[in-house]
Amino acid sequence: MTSQSQIPSFSPPVPQLDLAAQYAAIGGEIRTAVERVLASQQFVLGREGAALEAEIASLCGVAHGVGVASGTDALILALRACGVRTGDEVLVPAFTFVATGSAVSALGAKPVFADIRPETYNIDPAELERRVTPRMRAIVVVHLYGLSADMDPILAFAKARKLPVIEDNAQAIGASYKGRRTGSLGDAACISFYPTKNLGAYGDAGMVVSNSPELAERIRTLRNHGQATKYLSNEPGWNSRLDEIQAAILRVKLRHLSNWQRARQSHAAEYSRLLSQIPGVMPPLAPEGYEHVYHQYTIRIEQRDALHKFLSERKIGSAVYYPHPLHLQPLYASLGHKPGNFPHSERAAQEVLSLPMYPELRQEQIARVVEAVAEFLKC
Ligand SMILES: Cc1ncc(COP(=O)(O)O)c(C=O)c1O
Repeated sequence: MTSQSQIPSFSPPVPQLDLAAQYAAIGGEIRTAVERVLASQQFVLGREGAALEAEIASLCGVAHGVGVASGTDALILALRACGVRTGDEVLVPAFTFVATGSAVSALGAKPVFADIRPETYNIDPAELERRVTPRMRAIVVVHLYGLSADMDPILAFAKARKLPVIEDNAQAIGASYKGRRTGSLGDAACISFYPTKNLGAYGDAGMVVSNSPELAERIRTLRNHGQATKYLSNEPGWNSRLDEIQAAILRVKLRHLSNWQRARQSHAAEYSRLLSQIPGVMPPLAPEGYEHVYHQYTIRIEQRDALHKFLSERKIGSAVYYPHPLHLQPLYASLGHKPGNFPHSERAAQEVLSLPMYPELRQEQIARVVEAVAEFLKC
């Protein structure tokens, strides 16, 4: 492998994500929107939040949006609204961010893990029949990295078993599956506006979207102390309201989202074109009929840890999402899973690497990243 002294020192760094570049482009619009909220002195449950709910629901192609404090809260409240309680079981993929599982645990329910398809990193529909239990109360499907899960067989299975399907759409806002937007496919969908997401706030924020007026109403109540009317609570709830400053910022960014999405898709196409010349690297797959929004551009490579280090020595950012599958997290040690139980999830956790990806990424930066990957593989 190339030694540190051979690394060219003149190349500028390529970060894995560059939010400062985005702020440089839209900072003026953001400051105007924040000023508007400050002038209104309405900070919680006001017109910005209501407008954002309608705009996000429309983007997803559903009737209702309910703004909440984070993507994790969106999952907890959607599961609760679907009737998940202590002692229930909920199917979740083993390869995802821990929040997908911990939202289930937060309700006292137990996650039942399912393995993924190795080529898409999303839940394998064939796993549903294998993993279903009599206590199962819901299915959570994750659209990882910005690519929809294969929803048709999942929805057919869920319908036959009368199980609600909740989409964890934290990473895939704007993506679609066979002409339908993610967020409109299940009974409810959960969005994260964490700052690094394709549509990111300047703090924590989230939303549940749904076509069901009953579910939406229930979540509106749950996010605000279980109050169906002011100062009258029917059940225990949460304080999980979306604040107005975040909503105003997200509304500005939403105006740019489709351009940003196109930029991500064009960067992904360029990466995949260049990487197709390099044996030993598996670029991400976007099956026919799926629109991938490349929240991450994630490759697969056996020598992942060594490549991660090699890139970092050349000031090229990359990241591992995620190094530990859920069934091997200490959090779930009591469930008694062992290495080998979900082999595709385990292998993905060892081999995935997300390369720099953000709308402002430049062609020469992509070329530099791919050159470094090629150089690594020649060593
Ligand atoms: C797949 C997935 N689910 C859930 C979440 C939780 O969202 P948040 O960080 O907004 O609570 C995230 C975000 O990090 C995520 O990537």
